[in-house]
Amino acid sequence: MLNFLLTGTSSNGVLTIQLHRPEALNALNTALLRELADTLDNAAADSAVRAVVITGGSRAFAAGADIREMADLDLLGVMNDPRPQYWARISAFAKPIIAAVNGFALGGGCELVMHADIVIASRDARFGQPEIKLGIIPGAGGTQRLIRAVGRSLASQMVLTGEPITAQRAYDAGLVSELTEPELTLERAQQIAASIAAQAPLAVRQAKDVLLRSQETHLAAGLAYERKAFTLLAATEDRNEGIQAFIEKRRPEYKGR
Ligand code: HXC
Repeated sequence: MLNFLLTGTSSNGVLTIQLHRPEALNALNTALLRELADTLDNAAADSAVRAVVITGGSRAFAAGADIREMADLDLLGVMNDPRPQYWARISAFAKPIIAAVNGFALGGGCELVMHADIVIASRDARFGQPEIKLGIIPGAGGTQRLIRAVGRSLASQMVLTGEPITAQRAYDAGLVSELTEPELTLERAQQIAASIAAQAPLAVRQAKDVLLRSQETHLAAGLAYERKAFTLLAATEDRNEGIQAFIEKRRPEYKGR
C-alpha cells in the first residue's frame, strides 16, 4: 500500500511522484524508499510511462535518511539494512528521471537528486551532504556521484564540512541544469519530461544508458558502447519514422518499436 508517495500519470506519458512525508521534511525512511523502488519498478513495466518527475514539498525535497530510524540500528542492523537494495533498484530505472527540487535536498535527499538524469531547482533550494555532522558519511552515492557532478574540490568541501550550498552554486557547478522561481519548478520539470516523453522511447532509453556509462568507463570504451547503441537503433521502426517525418515535414508518431 502506498503511504508516502503521491503519484499521477499524465496523458502525455509523464509519471509524477511526489514524496509526501511533510511532518519529517520528507525524510527517507525505509517504507518510503521501498515505495519509491516499487513505484519505479511498476513504471518500468508500464509502456504508458515514458519519463518520471520526482518532487517533494515546498520546504523540502527530502531532508535525508530518517535520522530517528537510523538511531535504532547497530552494526548488524546497518549490515542487514534493506535500503541499499532499494537504492540499487532506483539507480537501475532505465527511463529518464527529472528531479524538481524546492527547499532542502540533504543527505539521502541530495543523493536521490543525483539519481535523476536532469535536475531542475527552485532558487530557494539547498543541496548538502551533512552526514559528517552526525559522525557518519554519505552512503547512497553521495561521495561518488557528487564528485562526478561538481568536481573534487566542491564535493570534498560539502562532504567534509557538511555545509549546504545554494541553488545558484549548485547550478554554477553543474549539479542543476535550470533554476526556476519556486512556484514554477514542478511545472518546468514536467514540461521537460513531456518533451522527452514525445521522443522515440527506445532511443531515449539508449541515450540514458550511454550517458550513464560515460561515468563508469574510459573514453574509448564509452565511444564504442555509444556506437553499438547507435547501430542497434537502426533496427527500430521509430528510427525510420523519425527520419521520414523530417523529410515529409510532419510530426513523427513513435510507437516504441
Ligand atoms: C528525521 C527529520 C529529518 C531527518 C528533519 N526532520 N530532517 N526527521 N530524519 N533527516 C524532522 C525534524 O526532526 C522535525 O520533526 C521536522 O522534520 C522539521 O524539521 P526542523 O528541524 O524542525 O526544521 P528546520 O528548523 O527548518 O530545519 C530544517 C533542516 C533540519 C535544516 C533540514 O531539519 C535538519 O538539519 N535535518 C537533518 C538533515 C540531515 O542531517 N540529513 C542527513 C541525514 S543522514 P519534529 O517532530 O521535531 O517537528 C543521511 C544518510 C544517508 O541522509 C545515507 C543513505 C544510505
